[in-house]
Amino acid sequence: MPVLPVYDPLDPATLEDPYPLYKQLREETPVFWHKRMNSWVLTRYNDCREVLRNHEAFARDRRRVGEDVPEFRQNLQSLDPPQLGPLRSLLINAFRAQDLDAIADRTRERVMKIFESVADESEFDWIHRVAAPAALTVTSELFGVEEPDLHEYADIADAITRRMDAGLDPAVIAPGDFARKQLNALADEWLEHDEGRPGLLTTVKETLAASRVPDHYIRNTTGVMFNASYGTVFAAAGNFVHTLLNHPGTLDEFRNETLLSSGVEELIRFDGPAQATSRIAAQPAQLGGTVIEPGQAIITLLAAANRDPDEFPNSDELVLDRTPNRHLGFGWGPHACLGALFGNMAIREIIRCLLQAPGTLRQTGEPVRRTTATVRSMDFLPVTFGA
Ligand code: HEM
Repeated sequence: MPVLPVYDPLDPATLEDPYPLYKQLREETPVFWHKRMNSWVLTRYNDCREVLRNHEAFARDRRRVGEDVPEFRQNLQSLDPPQLGPLRSLLINAFRAQDLDAIADRTRERVMKIFESVADESEFDWIHRVAAPAALTVTSELFGVEEPDLHEYADIADAITRRMDAGLDPAVIAPGDFARKQLNALADEWLEHDEGRPGLLTTVKETLAASRVPDHYIRNTTGVMFNASYGTVFAAAGNFVHTLLNHPGTLDEFRNETLLSSGVEELIRFDGPAQATSRIAAQPAQLGGTVIEPGQAIITLLAAANRDPDEFPNSDELVLDRTPNRHLGFGWGPHACLGALFGNMAIREIIRCLLQAPGTLRQTGEPVRRTTATVRSMDFLPVTFGA
């Protein structure tokens, strides 16, 4: 009997560097049943993409496998086509109506001010001093809402991120659910008190009445979307800087502006924040020769798929002009990331700021990984701009 690799996503060595284990899983057991998570786990690119693409066989909406989820709770992430369509269209159009250039300018302004404030420090924490405030500013600007208190919001976001690992640790459920209520209260306030500020929410409110989208979908989706933005931009801003610090000379390559958009996509492929997502089999299916029964959960390890050498030549290398780069870091199919353009912009602007910074960013000590599996991020990344 072959000895199967043990996959414990929260094991410290796995949190530090999950990619050797992902490689082993892809090669030895690409579709396997994970008892603790009560799910199939997929690691190969083609299998993961098929699950995300094929919404008829693999569902988000748990009502399709007989679960009793009340209609008033539905949101963008819990619906499937065809109900998903009008809501996604409304939101995509609202994104398109925003002035991305103006938001990019304000993001750079905020990040450059932070850089000035830390310029003389012999050590500062990139995560708390830059990644978190930059993610909150850029998200609040996009939504057109007053920025919430950073510390209070970071706690809410942290509990919600940990809640995504409920299959590994049930203790995260209660604090996560409480944080979701806090987030929904914040979203209700934004929706009720019309500040008339330009931004995503004003556009959504203006276009909602003429659409076929029920009000409660918007109420339930506003907080989800705000946090999808803050949480991933925060995590990405830590991961990509860590990647750049570990690949000397790469930041300088971005002085060639033509590399900015492909390079940001590659940073997401190489070590993105979204390590995994899940679906439920809505009908009998076969993946890699394994039979999946209706009602069974499936975890697609996006980050493992993103290093699959069958899709990405030299998959463990960072190649800033990689083409094509059909990575799954923003998902795929009907639930693919709505804010991908915006997330790319946020990372691009932080890179632009690093290129104009008061010095060269250097790591001054050991980083600390956050103990979360679904979202890969950091708690602490000590750096300096000093000599
Ligand atoms: C680097 C930044 C980002 C990354 C890596 C990322 C990643 C992802 C991934 C992997 C998914 C798909 C999840 C699934 O299929 O189950 C997703 C969905 C989503 N993302 Fe992003 N995201 C980022 C930034 C953003 C931003 C800035 C926003 C909003 C402004 C946003 C809003 C959303 C929403 C609303 C969904 C749900 C879409 C749906 O279920 O139909 N994301 N994101």
